[in-house]
Amino acid sequence: MSEISGTKMAVFGMGIIGSRCADNLAEAGIDIRTWNRTIKGRNDEAKSAADAAKGAAVVAFYLKDGVACREVFEQISESLSECKILLNHSTIDLETTLWLAAECEALDVAFLDCPFTGSKVAAQNGELVYYVGGDEILLEQYREILEITSKEVIPVGKVGNATVIKVATNLISASTVQALSESLAIATANGIPAESFISAVEGNACGSVLAAMKLPTMVEGDYDTHFSLDNMLKDAKFAIKLAEDANLKTPGIETTANVMNELCENGSASLDYSALYRQFEQ
Ligand SMILES: NC(=O)c1ccc[n+]([C@@H]2O[C@H](COP(=O)([O-])OP(=O)(O)OC[C@H]3O[C@@H](n4cnc5c(N)ncnc54)[C@H](OP(=O)(O)O)[C@@H]3O)[C@@H](O)[C@H]2O)c1
Repeated sequence: MSEISGTKMAVFGMGIIGSRCADNLAEAGIDIRTWNRTIKGRNDEAKSAADAAKGAAVVAFYLKDGVACREVFEQISESLSECKILLNHSTIDLETTLWLAAECEALDVAFLDCPFTGSKVAAQNGELVYYVGGDEILLEQYREILEITSKEVIPVGKVGNATVIKVATNLISASTVQALSESLAIATANGIPAESFISAVEGNACGSVLAAMKLPTMVEGDYDTHFSLDNMLKDAKFAIKLAEDANLKTPGIETTANVMNELCENGSASLDYSALYRQFEQ
């Protein structure tokens, strides 16, 4: 029996990722309670956020954004007397990461800034990759729990660094899918069969895991959600804010954010972010 078996843990946010991670944590013997803003009907679901947090030694957030994290934290802050650590896995703005860290410190609760990469399938298979900002000794203490839901845990320095890295890497993914959309549209409009274009990209230095994952489904018009367009738009906005704060001009992500915004307003918000290709669908 593992040392962490039976650890009392509260997991907040039963969306695409949180629900799958909660299943894996439960299967690994963690004593979990879950909470979601909209009732999910899970067996481990608490009646309120505060109830979920009561008695938990470890609290994990897989929530949408900074607003959700602040709202949930305020609902649970008086129920954290047994809590040793808050693990934030949500991709949020830097200000909220620092706010969560300060709020935790005031309550004598440790905090790790640990967003992840990996999507629906990786979460299902316990193969996320966590970027971890915060004390490395603390990380080692909780590594075993993080490893239930991940295949890799990457320390990146102080609290806040993981948030910045996560937001910056998502800029690459959004920009890549915008570039894939434009190039696929140009190729097919000029009579190139989609399969030929996919093979050409595969054999090109511009090919990538992301291109191999997204191009075939974009061609099919299959936008089954692994990571939603409105969540990618949220992250693009965080990237733009980080750029502005550093006096940087980032016209590429600004253009992509405008396209995502328009698509979200026109009904594609909950689709996969590869629905960026819909800008070319008549
Ligand atoms: N999916 C991916 O591939 C992926 C990859 C890397 C990082 N992430 C990040 O991981 C986090 C979770 O992703 P996901 O794909 O699981 O997102 P999701 O499916 O959109 O789930 C979002 C969760 O946040 C909850 N929520 C939203 N606003 C809230 C509020 N104001 N108060 C309380 N709860 C609120 C939602 O509750 P309701 O059900 O009530 O709306 C839901 O449980 C996000 O920050 C996302 O950017 C996702």
